Amino acid sequence: MIAALVNLTPGVGRTTLAVNLAGELALQGKRVALLDVDGASGVREWAGMRRRNELPALFDTVTITSAQLRCGLWGLGTSFDHVVIDTPARSSAAVRAALLAAETVLVPTPPDRSAIQRCAATMQLVVEALAAEPMLSASLVLTRAPEGVLVEPGTEAGVLGLRLPVSAVVVRQRLAFATSRNTGLLVPELEMAGRAEADVRGLVSEVFGLGSVPVAG
Ligand SMILES: Nc1ncnc2c1ncn2[C@@H]1O[C@H](COP(=O)(O)OP(=O)(O)OP(=O)(O)O)[C@@H](O)[C@H]1O
Ligand SMILES: [Mg+2]
Repeated sequence: MIAALVNLTPGVGRTTLAVNLAGELALQGKRVALLDVDGASGVREWAGMRRRNELPALFDTVTITSAQLRCGLWGLGTSFDHVVIDTPARSSAAVRAALLAAETVLVPTPPDRSAIQRCAATMQLVVEALAAEPMLSASLVLTRAPEGVLVEPGTEAGVLGLRLPVSAVVVRQRLAFATSRNTGLLVPELEMAGRAEADVRGLVSEVFGLGSVPVAG
C-alpha cells in the first residue's frame, strides 16, 4: 500500500501520524519506507532525533523531491510492503506529486469546523486527483481531537459539503503523540503509550487492513 498524508495547513499532525503509522507497520514485521517530500515535512528532523538517541531506525526514511516523486517511486513501491508519504505544509507541488504516487490519501485534520474549512484547498486537489485516477481512494482522518469531546466521524464533513469519507478511527489529542513527535520515539516505545497506541493500531488496521482494531474512546 502506498499511503500519502496531505494537508496544506501546517501543524495538523501529518508527521506525527506518518512516523507512527510507519512505525506500527514496521513493528508488525512489514518492510516500510517513509518518504519525506522535499526534506521539509518534518520526518528528517524526527529521524535525526531518533538517531541522536541511538534508537534503531525500524524503517527507512527517504528524502525525495516533488519533481522526482512526480516521475514515480523509483522502485520503492516494489522494494517495500508499504510506503508512507509525508508532505510539507503549503506546498501544492508536493501534494500534487504525492497524489500521483499514492494508492490511498489521508487528509489529517482536527475535527473542529474551522480546521475542516481550512482543508478546502487541499480537498480541491484531492477531488481532482480522484476524478483523474479511479483507483485512488481518499479519506479525512480526524486528528488532535480533544479527549472527552464526542466526535462523530462524518458529521462535520457532511455539514461543509465535503465529499470524502471520514475514517472511523479518531486520533485524539494525547501527550504520547506530542512526546513522540518531539523526541524521535514511537508511541509504543513510550511508557505513556496507552490509548495513543490503540489509536495508531486502529488506524493501521483501517488503512492498511492489518492487525486488530482496538479503537479507544
Ligand atoms: N494527536 C496528537 N496529540 C497531541 N499532539 C499532537 C498530535 N498530533 C500532533 N501533535 C503535535 O502538534 C504539533 C504538530 O504536529 P506535526 O508536526 O505532526 O504536524 P504537521 O502537520 O506535520 O506539521 P508541519 O506543518 O510542521 O509539517 C507537534 O508539536 C505535535 O507534537
Ligand atoms: Mg510535518
